[in-house]
Amino acid sequence: MARPRVLSGIQPTADSFHLGNYLGAVRQWVSMQETHDAFYCVVDLHALTVQPNPDDLRRRSRVAAAQLLAAGLDPERCTVFVQSHVRQHSELAWVLMCLTGMGEAGRMTQFKDKSAKFGENAAGVGLFNYPILMAADILLYQTDQVPVGADQKQHLELTRDLAQRFNHRYGETFTLPAPYIVKEVEKITDLQEPTAKMSKSSSSPQGILDVLEPAGALRKKVMRAVTDTGTEVLADAENKPGVTNLLRIHSALSGTPVPELEARFAGEGYGTFKKAVAEIVVDTFTPLRERAEKLLADEAELDRLLAIGARRAGAVAEETMVRVRDRVGFLPGA
Ligand code: TRP
Repeated sequence: MARPRVLSGIQPTADSFHLGNYLGAVRQWVSMQETHDAFYCVVDLHALTVQPNPDDLRRRSRVAAAQLLAAGLDPERCTVFVQSHVRQHSELAWVLMCLTGMGEAGRMTQFKDKSAKFGENAAGVGLFNYPILMAADILLYQTDQVPVGADQKQHLELTRDLAQRFNHRYGETFTLPAPYIVKEVEKITDLQEPTAKMSKSSSSPQGILDVLEPAGALRKKVMRAVTDTGTEVLADAENKPGVTNLLRIHSALSGTPVPELEARFAGEGYGTFKKAVAEIVVDTFTPLRERAEKLLADEAELDRLLAIGARRAGAVAEETMVRVRDRVGFLPGA
């Protein structure tokens, strides 16, 4: 039996991934390369929707790719590539846009949130089309499963609708992808505001743990994390969201169940507990940061690895596009 095909994407919009990205996406991707035929994509076309300056986008695309490789994605076992290297993503997005209703795209809650934030006129057409490009990413590879956070579920439903619509109108062409929802990340919250999700767009720098930050900064942030009144290290999401978040972080990184951690730190107080959390974060991120730095120091080698990924991804994408072009009625040749 062939392994199920999986595809996921991550945006190069920051100079480092954060703990939420690591637990919710990156770590999951690493383990799925063993069980799936995996394609992982740094989605720079998506990042363009917020108009980054070109040098930032270039740097962040390399930084994102380096972190993925540093985290353990192995180009021999999965395909890691940059979206803009595979031109078929834009090409299929256009075809799918022509199948999408204005109202349908306008109902996407992430678009509505973002356009509300940027203001009606500042939100560009790129942002409006973002989910359709994501559908193209997924459908190009005949993807069976898409590991995403719960916030992407609506985009995946749109992807399925578009695949079905295309198949119905033009004949069976696309595999219908299923979501593979990663629950963990929803639970990791901001260190300073432990009832809000840890997120690049909404957390303050003090509330977020970055994969590439130095050990000293990570320790400081954990030690200064908001805790709750009382002294007991107990999980209680309602009354002790700060301590609960730190317990979840420890548990996710150490693999120790929360009740076991509660027993271990019974009577110890917050200080000792926080030190232990800081150490496990540092122990996880330090080797990753060192490997990423090494990869980034040799840009030519990093670009060579990405070119291999692009070739592999491009071959699969082209196979799909050959069929799509014919089905919709484009002329052969050229
Ligand atoms: N929109 C996704 C996010 O913000 C990123 C993404 C782009 C993606 N293309 C994708 C995820 C394809 C899964 C599959 O998380």
